[in-house]
Amino acid sequence: MASQDSIAPVDPAAITRALAPFGSSRMLPPEAYTTAEVFEWERANFFSGWQCIGRSADIAKAGMQRADRVGDTTVLLARGEDLVLRAFANVCRHRGHELLPCGGEKTARAITCPYHLWSYRLDGDLFSAVGYDEESAFDKSEFPLRALPLREWHGWIFLDPSGAAGSLDDHLQGLEERVAPYSPETLVVRGSHEYVIEANWKIIVENYQECYHCPAIHPELCAVSIHQGGENWEPSRGAWVGGWQELQPHAATMSLDGHSDSLPISGLTDLELRRVDYIGVFPNLLISLHPDYVMTHRMIPLSAGRTWVECSWMFPVHATEQPTFDPAFAMDFWDITNREDWAACESVYRGLDSGFAEAGPLSPSEEAVYQFVTMVARGYSGLPISALAHTPGTSTNERVST
Ligand code: FES
Ligand SMILES: [Fe+2]
Repeated sequence: MASQDSIAPVDPAAITRALAPFGSSRMLPPEAYTTAEVFEWERANFFSGWQCIGRSADIAKAGMQRADRVGDTTVLLARGEDLVLRAFANVCRHRGHELLPCGGEKTARAITCPYHLWSYRLDGDLFSAVGYDEESAFDKSEFPLRALPLREWHGWIFLDPSGAAGSLDDHLQGLEERVAPYSPETLVVRGSHEYVIEANWKIIVENYQECYHCPAIHPELCAVSIHQGGENWEPSRGAWVGGWQELQPHAATMSLDGHSDSLPISGLTDLELRRVDYIGVFPNLLISLHPDYVMTHRMIPLSAGRTWVECSWMFPVHATEQPTFDPAFAMDFWDITNREDWAACESVYRGLDSGFAEAGPLSPSEEAVYQFVTMVARGYSGLPISALAHTPGTSTNERVST
């Protein structure tokens, strides 16, 4: 499943340039975005470790099961009678049939292989193998499903299909205090869009991490948000980058005219009520914390030049119970803004794929892009991806993935 080669097939001199101090560094070289070799390496090394695979609420009841493609493998999720969500390799211990077809869902009290009907409890233990009842030598306890590390964090499901990426707490180190005030686990999704973008997944993350482009392509965004009015956070020990931007004085939130049809999230500070936080969790979850809703972009890279993105909007329950509640104020605004961004990302991809592109410099306002690019560059070199992971005294693992 995972690559044996911990060093990416990217020119080492280009990686060194990407890791130079901010102000003198360069972006990753074009081939990092456009070639199948680098894409496959990333899938085997970045997308084999911790990543977001959806929302807990979508698989909330005991007995619910779902098979998903994650990285270059498929996994089975099952919610137990104890309401614990578990992940398993989607492979029967008998002769390897898939337990559910990829993309399939069902609700049942057992996980039953459709080939010869071996049945497993929702915690993965084998309890029934047809025809073996008389075979005293057969020990069912030797054939449980292979469990994979899974954690639910503020209502998002994180999975490590490699089983070797260390602790999620290390991966998200420093992020809890940023996200917890918004209690995302209590919010309810009231809208979702899917997009397929003809661009490399890293271009989408880089675009998300800067507003240098905002005056040029986002008139709607600049009408409600002060694009120079914000800061990026210092690099952390975790595998994430982010920053915040102030709302314009008249705007209650990000919508076309700044009005909200939701209500503020309970418990936010005056500061949090006047800004939007933008957080990129490596590798595939972008979290945008607004005063009255949380938006996420969850990405699945399909190839070097194609990325599936699910954009979801979630709101406080007390707001959705208002008769006037309508998620369109947030969804319409961000759908327009998303499409402006996707057009830019697709153009960047075509430019990088033109044969003429070279790794460009970063402007002073693209520091969060620099943080992301250096995470990728460290990962390409076989190093821990987070900026401070190698600092003495940290507990971060040697690598983000195998
Ligand atoms: S392969 Fe699953 S029961 Fe035979
Ligand atoms: Fe944008």
